[in-house]
Amino acid sequence: MKALLVAVSLLAAGSAFSQDGRALLEAKGCLGCHAFDAAKVGPPFNDVAAKYKDDRHAEAKLVAKLKAGEGHPIKVEASDAELSALVKTVLAAAAAGKPAVAKAAPAEKGPTNPNNALCLGCHGNPDFTPHIDAAAFEKSVHAPRNCTDCHGDMGGIPHTKIAPSHDARSLAIIKNCGGCHTENLKSYRDTYHGQVTTLGYAFTAKCFDCHGTHNILHVKDPASSVHPNNRLHTCQKCHVGATPGFVTFQPHANHTNLQRYPYTYLAWHFMAGLLLGTFAFFWTHSALWFYREYRDRREGKLRTHVATGELALPPGKRYQRFNGWWRLAHLVFALTLMVLTLTGMTLFYAHSAWAPEVSKALGGPRTTGLIHRVAAVVFAAVFIAHLGYMLVHLGRRWRTFNWLGPDSLIPWIQDFKDIWAMFKWFIGKGPRPVFDRWTYWEKFDYWAPFWGVTIIGVSGLMLWFPKVTAFFLPGWTFNVAMIAHGEEAFLAAVFLFTVHFFNNHFRPEKFPLDTLMFTGSMPIELFKHEHGLHYERLVRSGELQRYLVQEPSRPMALGSKILGFTLIGIGLALLALVLIGFST
Ligand code: HEC
Ligand code: HEC
Ligand code: HEC
Ligand code: HEC
Ligand code: HEC
Ligand code: HEC
Repeated sequence: MKALLVAVSLLAAGSAFSQDGRALLEAKGCLGCHAFDAAKVGPPFNDVAAKYKDDRHAEAKLVAKLKAGEGHPIKVEASDAELSALVKTVLAAAAAGKPAVAKAAPAEKGPTNPNNALCLGCHGNPDFTPHIDAAAFEKSVHAPRNCTDCHGDMGGIPHTKIAPSHDARSLAIIKNCGGCHTENLKSYRDTYHGQVTTLGYAFTAKCFDCHGTHNILHVKDPASSVHPNNRLHTCQKCHVGATPGFVTFQPHANHTNLQRYPYTYLAWHFMAGLLLGTFAFFWTHSALWFYREYRDRREGKLRTHVATGELALPPGKRYQRFNGWWRLAHLVFALTLMVLTLTGMTLFYAHSAWAPEVSKALGGPRTTGLIHRVAAVVFAAVFIAHLGYMLVHLGRRWRTFNWLGPDSLIPWIQDFKDIWAMFKWFIGKGPRPVFDRWTYWEKFDYWAPFWGVTIIGVSGLMLWFPKVTAFFLPGWTFNVAMIAHGEEAFLAAVFLFTVHFFNNHFRPEKFPLDTLMFTGSMPIELFKHEHGLHYERLVRSGELQRYLVQEPSRPMALGSKILGFTLIGIGLALLALVLIGFST
């Protein structure tokens, strides 16, 4: 009877061992370091069972050991019931009739970095999931590093701090690589790949998509995935159909290193010079202008009285400066430019606190990119339509049109004289100059987009169609295009939202808003004040009548105000985002 009971309990133990017990050992990762009949990182369980065969307190002892992590390399995270089940299973091993291997197999040579033995105990095992190639890791440049240098704190074993998703893990690893390779992380974040991952999306190339994970080699090593011999293949994993030209794109181009990245260096410094020059001139210009108008206002002589009484015009008449097409073009430009700024700067300043939020709100980098392209096409269409109109319009009278005269937007000697006179007026050394149809700052506002659209448009197209570009240009042109596109956009946005806003809305004479560009018309006195020479010409030739229009209706005036304030508000908000991005 007694024998029968023992047999039954043995059977029970046996079945527990083969099912629940074994499953639990597996789940708790014990089998990463232990087998029953062979030595791995830890001793074979059969030996353990044999060792404790006659010890009546074996279970309690071992549970205590595992629980405290004393006398055992790891502290086992499990409930008391689980622990006792685990230990029971281990102790039952020999009893279940498995013969112990007398001598443990000689332990393998440990890893280069003994700290990693614990992790490799589980993950280095071919039949453990998730499994890594321990041999490759040993041969990699990182063999002396800790697993946790890249993986961070996993929260013990079993891991309690595993990243919530594969993407989250990937993004965390990029940061950890950057903990040691700071320069490479920085340069990576200047590329499209890095901007997208900075925004929190993992679909572009991460460090290890190019370099490998546990098998990273020196770039000079011919077996390295980014060695020039293998680079095409590596990029083609994602860029199907990439050409050898495409892969000369420099994923770590750095604008401070002239020797290694000459084109990036030159492009960056050229753009920086352009920005500095433009802002130095125009901000000084604005500051002095502000000073002059502010003083004049305090002294009560802001607007020298202009009388137009000699014309004996009917009341309520205004001068129409911009027809409907100009105003529409201006409005579309303003709106699309704001959309382009928001969507573009989200990528350009991906590292700033607001960018991931905006990106998410816009539907992620892919949707943002689509919105950006649509806005760009609309912007370009208006620009090209304007060019076409001008060509036809001026083409018809190219012989008679006075190209350098006051009706032309072409900058000429008078403009430089005007600039000089303005500066003299700013510092109180001369009268306010009298302008003709176009002031020099208006001409600048007009021509700046020509330069801007050329730079931003061409570089934008290159980035939009990289494979076409790479077909006839080398890959470093992408690096240059990225810089030109981003810096020129920065220039345009900051110029418009500071200098342009100041000239037209914020200087004391205009503050807070000039609705001319929305209503199209201005009071005659103001016209005479701002474009005195043009006014005189029109009066002399008797043409002024042709430009007179009725005052805008109340809804039109109100609508223009609302529209103007809205655009200025958005512009200033965008300026704030850009400046936050710039300063962080
Ligand atoms: C990272 C590798 C590793 C993992 C994972 C691991 N062990 Fe161990 N275990 C060892 C090593 C190494 C020893 C030998 C310790 C010594 O002799 O100092 C050991 C010893 C033991 C012993 C014998 C202790 C003694 O006093 O002889 C038991 C029982 C044991 N482990 C159970 C477990 C259980 C149960 C699990 C899963 C919860 C587990 N081990 C997970 C490495 C590991
Ligand atoms: C006792 C065995 C064991 C040991 C020792 C161990 N791990 Fe793990 N590890 C696991 C198991 C099991 C998983 C599967 C993840 C889970 O819990 O779902 C895992 C998962 C992982 C993952 C993938 C996590 C993810 O987000 O998918 C990483 C990375 C990892 N371990 C790193 C380490 C590092 C680093 C060490 C050493 C500090 C280590 N592990 C030690 C058992 C172990
Ligand atoms: C140089 C950085 C680096 C080091 C050092 C490193 N790993 Fe990893 N590990 C990675 C990367 C990168 C991945 C892949 C991440 C991904 O695909 O999102 C990864 C993935 C893993 C995974 C998950 C595999 C899977 O199939 O999901 C495990 C487990 C892991 N590593 C364990 C280790 C262990 C153990 C060590 C130490 C021997 C180690 N790692 C050292 C970078 C590293
Ligand atoms: C698109 C592929 C790609 C990505 C993504 C990438 N690299 Fe590189 N990496 C390269 C190439 C190609 C080189 C070779 C250097 C060169 O020609 O500029 C390189 C070189 C390196 C070097 C060697 C040192 C040097 O500057 O020459 C290190 C270190 C490095 N990368 C780390 C990283 C880290 C860290 C990340 C992520 C933050 C990363 N890489 C992302 C392709 C990539
Ligand atoms: C704990 C610091 C550390 C971390 C984290 C780290 N590395 Fe390294 N890495 C190094 C060191 C140190 C070397 C140089 C090894 C040598 O020269 O033998 C190196 C070398 C490299 C090289 C070869 C550079 C060359 O000169 O050709 C590449 C590529 C590289 N690491 C990429 C990565 C990537 C990708 C990650 C993240 C997945 C990463 N590293 C994480 C320390 C680190
Ligand atoms: C893990 C996949 C992956 C790998 C590997 C990869 N890329 Fe990319 N790369 C992308 C994705 C995704 C984009 C975004 C393309 C898009 O949205 O059209 C991108 C964008 C680019 C762009 C910008 C193109 C543009 O539309 O502005 C360049 C340039 C580029 N990659 C070059 C490379 C080079 C060179 C390599 C190899 C050294 C490489 N990539 C490796 C996924 C990858």
